[in-house]
Amino acid sequence: MHDLKKIKDEFLTKLKGKVNLSEINQIKSDLFGKNGLISSQFKKIGIIEVSKRKKFASDLNFLKDELQSLINLKIKELENIEINEKLEKEKIDITLPERPFVRGRIHPVSQTIDEISSIFSEIGFSVEEGPDVENEYNNFTALNTPDNHPARDMHDTFYLDEKKQKLLRTHTSPVQIRTMLKDKPPFKIIAPGRTYRSDSDQTHSPMFHQVEGLHIDTNINMGHLKGCLSYFIKEFFEVKKIKMRFRPSHFPFTEPSAEVDIGYEIKDGKIIIGEGDKWLEILGCGMVHPNVLRNVKVDPAKYQGYAFGIGIDRLAMLKYGINDLRAFFDCDYRWLNHFGFDPLDVPSNYRGLSR
Ligand code: PHE
Repeated sequence: MHDLKKIKDEFLTKLKGKVNLSEINQIKSDLFGKNGLISSQFKKIGIIEVSKRKKFASDLNFLKDELQSLINLKIKELENIEINEKLEKEKIDITLPERPFVRGRIHPVSQTIDEISSIFSEIGFSVEEGPDVENEYNNFTALNTPDNHPARDMHDTFYLDEKKQKLLRTHTSPVQIRTMLKDKPPFKIIAPGRTYRSDSDQTHSPMFHQVEGLHIDTNINMGHLKGCLSYFIKEFFEVKKIKMRFRPSHFPFTEPSAEVDIGYEIKDGKIIIGEGDKWLEILGCGMVHPNVLRNVKVDPAKYQGYAFGIGIDRLAMLKYGINDLRAFFDCDYRWLNHFGFDPLDVPSNYRGLSR
């Protein structure tokens, strides 16, 4: 009995002192190892006086359990401390710059999309997106362009299956359909993104970018369309005056339809927007055809509105003086370094777009 108490007291004193993990493991094996203090007490059971044996065995077992659980607790506690110290010491400051520090550049097309989104969001347009791989219905049929319609040929479509059901969208107009199918009017959205046509030369690339615009409400007319586009062009080119011309045109999904040219001139090899007597076509637009509205279950007797599709790459070329469209998609690092933008220069109307 005396032995057991002594063992316990000694153990508790040791535990109270400052022990580390390897010390506690040592204590553990001193007690429970093959010749440990507790283990040797167990060996005594057989030789102890019969009258005291039962009590001794039970006291010993009790002590064994108690010490074991105290040891386990201490080990857990020490392990926790060790992990926390490690975490504290080994933490990485992810806000520190990578070395060597090379900051990438934002592609002029990305920058232009950000500028366009910023301008239209100021006047209440939200931004929508649609997939590059479209179905034939959204890209053509729903847009009042049925099978065998001559406008389909003009699009030089990349079809993805024999049945011509899946295709790479030829314009961003299918996002009009997607938007109107999933919500209720009014609609006021733009949808920038990639578009594809089988065409390639200095001013055409098989992959190019457009931004679609759609504004549908109960009282929208062509005046709103003109106002919206002239606001956009002035903001985009950061000029006070702009020369614009609406030329009658035809799109199956708008009636009436127009193409918009802006006036420009070339002075000392530089393009000046808004002056001169040269014209450059930059977008197609019109009042949304009633058939399109019917296809998306919008009542054309109640709602009407306008849509437009702007060629983003062309706007970027004009604004930033880039004269070959193909350079946009060459992935030439030197070109991107020269024409790209600082990632911290996020365009906003209030801070200035291209500064
Ligand atoms: N989707 C047409 C094109 O790619 C442009 C457009 C959009 C015209 C919306 C009218 C209205 O040529």
